[in-house]
Formats: sequence, structure tokens, C-alpha cells
Amino acid sequence: MSIALVILAAGKGTRMESDTPKVLHKIAGAPMLVHAMQAGSALAPDRIVVVAGHGADQVSAVVTDYDAEASVVRQDEQLGTAHAVAQARDALHGFDGNVLVLYGDTPFIRQQTLEKMAVARARHNLVVLGFDAADPGRYGRLVMQGDKLERIVEYKDASEDERALTLCNSGVLMANSATLFDLIAGVGNDNAAGEYYLTDIVALAHARGLTATTVTCDESETLGINSRPELARAEALFQTRARAALIEDGVAIQAPETLFLSYDTTIGRDAEIEPNVVFGPGVTVESGARIRAFSHLEGCHVSRGAVVGPYARLRPGAELAEDVHVGNFVEIKNAHLDTGVKANHLSYIGDADIGEGTNIGAGTITCNYDGVFKHRTTIGAHAFIGSNTMLVAPVRVGNNALTGSGSVITSDVPDDALALGRAKQATKDGYGRKLVEMLKAKKARLQKETD
Ligand code: UD1
Ligand code: CA
Repeated sequence: MSIALVILAAGKGTRMESDTPKVLHKIAGAPMLVHAMQAGSALAPDRIVVVAGHGADQVSAVVTDYDAEASVVRQDEQLGTAHAVAQARDALHGFDGNVLVLYGDTPFIRQQTLEKMAVARARHNLVVLGFDAADPGRYGRLVMQGDKLERIVEYKDASEDERALTLCNSGVLMANSATLFDLIAGVGNDNAAGEYYLTDIVALAHARGLTATTVTCDESETLGINSRPELARAEALFQTRARAALIEDGVAIQAPETLFLSYDTTIGRDAEIEPNVVFGPGVTVESGARIRAFSHLEGCHVSRGAVVGPYARLRPGAELAEDVHVGNFVEIKNAHLDTGVKANHLSYIGDADIGEGTNIGAGTITCNYDGVFKHRTTIGAHAFIGSNTMLVAPVRVGNNALTGSGSVITSDVPDDALALGRAKQATKDGYGRKLVEMLKAKKARLQKETD
């Protein structure tokens, strides 16, 4: 059965105390809305419709950036969750599979949970995701009769007895598209909040002889985020889970609580990660690579056998082939380092291609930016770049070529050549001592004048 996701993301999120729409606040480097889309993607949906309202333009840009085929519909006034889902109706015209309703501020639903819902959907017209709440608070309560879900009652409208129920509504539900929109058309707003409650479709389904059931999940999966403290807790929860998953998968993590991961970090088996490492989005570390302490990586690829850090920075487009060594206080951006390249100390390598086995001396800088344009530096294989070489791009250094320490290289260096681009040293015997004596005499004279 084909699936469409409808993701509600119109709310303002007043309690975030932020100008950014709530669903665009990030967890592990990705907007929480993207986490929700990713969770739903586990069911391989044919269509994705996001219902946006507050900050709709910004939300829309993030949605299409993540999935160019997803559609965004607008709910200009937030009249309730049923009204929100109704906005997706036109976008789903001609779709006759199941609709799964998710929430842009509920990023942690697991794939297995959604699969359980899809299975239950084969036996019931309507499947609602519930959870046993430690503190049921203001959640809607699920009123069950055996394994049948009879109705959902919102906290505001619930009686004492109903409020005592701990089985709560996550809001996530699944139904056939036509059924869902027919039921929603029957929802009114005569309730304590004056809203069109999506939850009312359960009782309406019963009135029409349809059946509903509940699938339950762990409360942590349905964690909704409404404030910055909750966002911070969600981030911590994500990190804890992601670290544990990597350890399970065979990554050697020395101090897990000091490692920060992104939503898409990929690390191979037997890779070693030392303490205090930060992975921004878009990092892949292959098996057996080693990331040493206090390194910061984003948008990069580290191959097998490579060693990065301590204190290294890999920025977007850094591509390290096998056995590359990048040492302390080295920054690499948009550069490809071929097999066995070493750049061990205090360098900036940006917009560059470096051939196999080349050694980059301490303090080497690729001067890639002229204030207006960026230019490339190309270095061949088995070259030796002397310490403190400035490579003024665009420039090419050939295979097996050498540059003298302290050189400013402004024109291409052919294969096998030695390039020296620095002032010639002048050594004057005895001048060192003479100069010091001269300066000391001057100091004594000045001292006398002020006394
Ligand atoms: C809803 C459920 C409640 C459930 C709870 C779980 C209803 C009526 N109630 O209550 O049973 O326990 O979620 O968190 O559905 N939204 C829109 N447009 C709207 C209204 C809401 O996009 O017009 C979005 C909000 O941005 C939010 C989500 O839908 O992300 C839930 O809406 P909210 O008003 O927070 O519902 P609750 O009162 O929490
Ligand atoms: Ca809510």
C-alpha cells in the first residue's frame, strides 16, 4: 500500500522565544522538521506534504532543500489539527493510499514504530499512535475498549475519570486518504478550545461503523519540543542515542559523553574517536581511521588509515584519501589530499589538490583568496613543500618538486624543480654584538636625560 506523509508544521512555537519558526530549530545540525521527514521516509512515502503557517517561506525553503519533490501547503490561520490536515487535501488529489500524519516538532519517532502502524492499518481503518505517559499532563487521552480505540478526549474536555487515564495520544495517526479527508470534513469546533480537533475523527469513524486501534511506542519517541529547555533536552537525547548506536556498530569511542554528532554522521567499524571531537553535518569517516582529540569536522570524508588531529579542522569539501595525516592546527577546506599526504603542523590548505605522498611543511598556507576571487593550488605527487611556504594561487607545483622554507611561490614550479622565493640571507660578522652595544648605550643616554 502506498504512503503519503502529511507533516504539520504551521504552529508558531511562542514558547521557543525565537524569531525562527519552531520546526526550523536544529537538533544535531538539522532542523527538527527534517528529522520528522527523515523518520517518515523510512516508510518510503510516495508523497510528502508539509503544512506550513508561521514562517512558511523559510519552512518551505528547508523542505524543498531536503526533498525537491515534497510539497508545502499553507495554513494561514491555525484553527486546529483537523483543519491543518485538511489543507493537504488538494495536494493529495488522486492519491488513494494511506496517509500518515506526523508533526514537525516531534522528531524522534522510530522506523519500527511506523512499520507497526502500517501493519495495524491492514486490520483497522484508523491507527493512532499512543504512549503510556509517566506524567500525562495535558495530553489527549485514548479511551480504549479492548484493543479497539473508542475515542480520544482532549485534556481540556476530559472528565476526572478520563484525566486519570495514562494512555495518551501522540497525535500521529494513519488512515486511508479518502477515509481520512471524509472524516475530517465532519469535524466541528464545538469544544473547550474552539478548535477543529483531528482527534475527533475517531468517534466519527465509530459512528460510521469503521474501526480504530492504537499502536503504542515509548514515550521518548513522541517527545514534542515547545521550548528551548525542551530543545536542549532533545539534543542531549539525540546525542546519547547516536553515540550508543555507533558504539554498537563497532566504533571505538574513548569518551562518548564528549563526542558531538550530527544527524547524518557516518563512521565505519573500528574507527577510533578520541575525546572532545565535534562532527558537523555531512561527515563520513571510514573504517580504521583515527580522529584524535579536539578536532572539528564538517562536510568532509576521511578514508581508511587516515589520522586527523589532535586539534585539526576539516571544513566542507575536505577529502582525505587513505593514510593521510593531518596534524595539529591544520585547517583544510575544499581540498583533496591524495594517499599518504602529510600536513602535520599549523597549515591552511584551501581550494587545493595535493598528489600522493606529498609532504606539506609546517606553517604552509595556500593563499587562495585575492579579496574577490578564490583560486586553486595544485601540487603534484611526492612533492616537498618547505616549512612556511606561501602558495599564492592560482599556482601549480609539479611532481617531485621542492619549495624552500619561507618561500612565497607566485609562479608554477615544474616537475622535479626546486623553487626558492625568499630574500637572500646576509650575514655580517660581529654586527650582532655591535648592535646590542649601540642599543644599550642609547638606553643609558635616554635614562640620564629623564633623571
Ligand atoms: C495534540 C492532540 C493531543 C495530543 C498532543 C500530542 C489534537 C486536538 N490534540 O494536542 O491529543 O496529546 O497533540 O502532542 O490534535 N498545528 C498546526 N496547525 C493547527 C494546529 C496545530 O500545524 O492549526 C500543529 C502544531 O504546530 C503542533 C501540532 O500541530 O506541531 C500539534 O498542535 P497543538 O496545538 O500543539 O496540539 P496539542 O494541544 O498539543
Ligand atoms: Ca503540542
